[in-house]
Amino acid sequence: MSRPTVGLVWAQAHDAAGRPVIGAGGVMPWHLPEDLAHFRRVTTGHPVVMGRVTWDSLPPRFRPLPGRVNVVVTRQEGWVPDDAAHPGATGTGVVVASSVEEGLALASAAAEESGSGQVWVMGGAQVYAAALPLADRCVVTEIDLEVDGDAFAPALAAGPAGGWELVAGGPGAPDDGWQTSAAGVRFRMLTYARRS
Ligand SMILES: NC(=O)c1ccc[n+]([C@@H]2O[C@H](COP(=O)([O-])OP(=O)(O)OC[C@H]3O[C@@H](n4cnc5c(N)ncnc54)[C@H](OP(=O)(O)O)[C@@H]3O)[C@@H](O)[C@H]2O)c1
Repeated sequence: MSRPTVGLVWAQAHDAAGRPVIGAGGVMPWHLPEDLAHFRRVTTGHPVVMGRVTWDSLPPRFRPLPGRVNVVVTRQEGWVPDDAAHPGATGTGVVVASSVEEGLALASAAAEESGSGQVWVMGGAQVYAAALPLADRCVVTEIDLEVDGDAFAPALAAGPAGGWELVAGGPGAPDDGWQTSAAGVRFRMLTYARRS
């Protein structure tokens, strides 16, 4: 079987300077149910890799994310997910890795074992930046919202000299892919693939 593909999946708004905001104060500064459903559709059935800060940002009742091997990357020796210490909580389904490379390797092994064929990196900024050189594609939700943030998406260099091209969503799609959420904010889903 060929090696599992590695995808990055994130949602971004922008700040006043146009930088792609993915987080503020440890959380995502918006609520977009359509994006949460999209994230669930993309990742369910596949291992996910996340930084320890992103793990901490998940509401305890949602972690580990169900239906997915959750790989958490940390430099802390002996780190265990909090939830494992709580009676009745589900500490299972979590794999701890000491580097992003190790996290991707463990997730790839799990994807091969299950036959899922895909690994998804789900943040945050530090882990996206480290995983980008190893990724095959990026699935990005653009949110048409100006917001201050302290965590940012990695830059995807496009064009002939860049490594990434837009392969789905955006220009060419009806309304350039923009939809309006039930909450009123515009958003669109874009897929970038690494140029071969
Ligand atoms: N918009 C989105 O789609 C999205 C998705 C995910 C997260 N977010 C947001 O992103 C923000 C969090 O991002 P972040 O960059 O602060 O944190 P992060 O990438 O989630 O986690 C950083 C932590 O991961 C561990 N780590 C990072 N690089 C490592 C390496 N090379 N080797 C071993 N461990 C490593 C360290 O954990 P230790 O400190 O334990 O050593 C580090 O503190 C939050 O605001 C969150 O809400 C947004």
